[in-house]
Amino acid sequence: TTKIIFDTDPGIDDAMALLFIEASPALDLVAVTTVFGNADIDTTTRNALYLKQRFGLTAPIYKGTDKPLVRPRNPSPTFVHGENGLGDVELTGLVAAEPEAKPAHQAIIDLARANPGEITLVAVGPLTNLALALEADPEVATLLKGVVIMGGAFAVAGKPGNVTPVAEANIWNDPEAADRVFTAPWHVAVIGLDVTTQVIMTPDFMEALEASAGPAGAFLNAISKPYAAFYGGRDGIVGCCVHDAAAVAYVIDETLFEVRRGSVRVVTEGIALGQTLQKVEGELFGPSAWDDQPIHSAAIAVDADRLLALYARTM
Ligand code: BDR
Ligand code: CA
Repeated sequence: TTKIIFDTDPGIDDAMALLFIEASPALDLVAVTTVFGNADIDTTTRNALYLKQRFGLTAPIYKGTDKPLVRPRNPSPTFVHGENGLGDVELTGLVAAEPEAKPAHQAIIDLARANPGEITLVAVGPLTNLALALEADPEVATLLKGVVIMGGAFAVAGKPGNVTPVAEANIWNDPEAADRVFTAPWHVAVIGLDVTTQVIMTPDFMEALEASAGPAGAFLNAISKPYAAFYGGRDGIVGCCVHDAAAVAYVIDETLFEVRRGSVRVVTEGIALGQTLQKVEGELFGPSAWDDQPIHSAAIAVDADRLLALYARTM
C-alpha cells in the first residue's frame, strides 16, 4: 500500500476524493492537511474533521494556512461549494472537534522525515502548504515518494481555465506557491482541468453509488446534487466533474492517464495570472525560465470510463 498525505480544501469534490482514499485498499491515509480555497480555513478544516467523525477515519487532521503566500485571499466560491463548503448539505451529528496542534506544513515535513521515500503527497487545493513546507525545509522535496496535484490545465483539448479563461482555481488561488512547487526538485504528476472535466459522475452514477456504497454513497450522492446543479447551470454538463478524485485515481493506477513530460511554470503576474505552462521535454527553444527545471508529468488524456469504474468498485 502507498502512504498518503492528503492536502485538501473540502470542498465537495475534495470530500469525494477523501472517501475514495479511505476506501481504497491500495492506499493508507496517514494524514489530512487542510488549506483555504473552496471555503476559508476554519470551514475547510471543520469539514475535514466532520468527514473524519462521520466516516470513522483514523488519520489525524492538521490545519494549514489561511491565506496565499504573498497576495490577499480570493473570495471563496460559495456559488460552487456552498456557504459550508459541502454544498450546504446539513452536517448532521457534528460534534465539536479540534485539529492537531502542529501546523499542516510542519506535519508534512515531519511525516516525510519519519518515512523517507514512502509518502505520496496528494494536493488538491491551493499549493500554499507545500510551498511553506519547502521554505521551512527544502530537503522535504527529496523525502517524498511523489507529489500528485490536481491543478492547472495543460490543454491539448478541453478547458484551460475555470476562474479565468486561462487559470484553474487551485493555481489561481496561490500562483506564487504553485510556481515554487513546480520548480522544486521533486517529481510532480499534475492532473489538470482539461483532463478532469472529461470525467463526469452523472446523476445515474451517483444513484448507483448511493445504492451500493452504504452511508458514504448516500452522503456523496447528497453533496453531488448542488455541485451538479452548478455544472449544469454554467457548463451544460449533466453531473459533476471529477477533479480531486482524479489525482487519487492516478496514485492507484497511473495507466488511467496519458502524460506528457516537461518542466512547468506558473504565470505570476498580468492578464494570464495563474496559467500553467509546460515546456515539453526534448523540445528546443531559446534560453528561458523553463530551462534547468525539474521534469514533471502533466496528464493530457484520461480513460474516463475506467476511472469511474475504479471509483465505483472501490467505494
Ligand atoms: C479545483 O478547485 C476546487 O474548486 C476543486 O475542489 C478542485 O480542487 C478544480 O478547479
Ligand atoms: Ca479541491
